[in-house]
Amino acid sequence: MNIVLVGMQWGDEGKGKVIDILSKRADYIVRYQGGNNAGHTVVVGDKEYIFHLIPSGILHPGKICCIGNGVVIDPEVLKRELADLRKNNIDFSGRFKISTLAHVIMPYHKNLDQLREAKRKNKIGTTGRGIGPCYADKINRCGIRMIDLLNPGVFKDKLKDNLKEKNEIFKKVYGHPGFSFQKIYRQYLDYGKLFSKFVCDTAVLLNKACDDKSDILLEGAQGTFLDIDFGTYPFVTSSSATSGGACIGTGISPVKIDKVVGVCKAYTTRVGEGPFPTEFAEGFGNFMRDRGNEFGATTGRPRRCGWFDAVIARQSVMLNGITELAIMKMDVLDGLDKVKICIAYKYKGRVIKEFPHDFEVLSKAVPIYKEMAGWPNQDNNPSSFKQLHPNARAYLLELQKLLGANITMVSIGSARKSTIFI
Ligand code: IMO
Ligand code: MG
Repeated sequence: MNIVLVGMQWGDEGKGKVIDILSKRADYIVRYQGGNNAGHTVVVGDKEYIFHLIPSGILHPGKICCIGNGVVIDPEVLKRELADLRKNNIDFSGRFKISTLAHVIMPYHKNLDQLREAKRKNKIGTTGRGIGPCYADKINRCGIRMIDLLNPGVFKDKLKDNLKEKNEIFKKVYGHPGFSFQKIYRQYLDYGKLFSKFVCDTAVLLNKACDDKSDILLEGAQGTFLDIDFGTYPFVTSSSATSGGACIGTGISPVKIDKVVGVCKAYTTRVGEGPFPTEFAEGFGNFMRDRGNEFGATTGRPRRCGWFDAVIARQSVMLNGITELAIMKMDVLDGLDKVKICIAYKYKGRVIKEFPHDFEVLSKAVPIYKEMAGWPNQDNNPSSFKQLHPNARAYLLELQKLLGANITMVSIGSARKSTIFI
């Protein structure tokens, strides 16, 4: 069974925990887009692991973990993440693979990301990790791929060509001194040597795995509304975070995907700029941020918080082909008098039920809420749907009805055991 897992909102839905759970039944776990803008948190016992690049499935002994061609790799971050695994005695020998075709984040990508943000009037609030500029070079056909780092001659030509153009842009547009060829050349050839044993044609590897009837879990990063096409453009990331990205980013054909699982929080959060119709007012927003510990796993920035938005979540179900839902951080809503679900928007007296594409409409849309009774703190540590407070159950059933997909997992805490399977 090949499963794609996607975020249904603006990222940080709790994908790391669900991946960790689904990894048990998978033979291969694969990242297919994004880069170290992602931060996937997994809690095992009293230890918390945060992964930015390596699939979180690496914690499960014997599983093969791949970074697919659709991912952009910052080699320094990868080096650090591998060192951390070694430090934690997680043996990954022979079971970690990197696609030859994955693009590499270069120092100039990171600088450009930050310089562009600083220059912009309408900031995106990127993570500053060089993600956008690296993908731009990929599409611009001047990117550098993992395989290039293994061939000094090829790498030299590509880097020279890049620096010739980029150094001029850096100087003239940004007043930045530019980059030295020798320094980057040597440093990145070293990365190449360090990673060479992991680099392979992961598309061939994964398609063989399909032929052998192995189970593959495709680990999405970011979320549907950060998708470059379907998200709240331009306040998005630069990759295809929807389920279609799993095929492009791995070389596994769409006919080999069996199921798409959608992950969403029981409420909504967003980091960075951009429209967010159900965002809480400041006071309640601060209260909920503290309750849910909503601070970014990658940049530490406070996350913006709001009520569950069924308009965007329904759109997610449609765009991704989601048939199963994992509802995360349900416990954060415990103890509230009332909970609200946005079922439509209102704009200039008009009721809007579909996600609007016009920026002004989306920015000024006023949510129409369905209000429901809250539920007390659930100290009984519920382990089944039946044990949840009736009002919590009613809330989940309402989400299920609005989204038209089945809830198969509800998370009520960060630990593996704080999960209800339905
Ligand atoms: P995970 O996988 C939340 C957001 C950034 C910014 C926008 C563009 O942990 O859910 P970028 O650096 O990608 O060009 O920034 O996208 N963003 C995320 N927000 N979770 C993520 O990943 C994100 N990755 C990018 O905050 O608004
Ligand atoms: Mg994140």
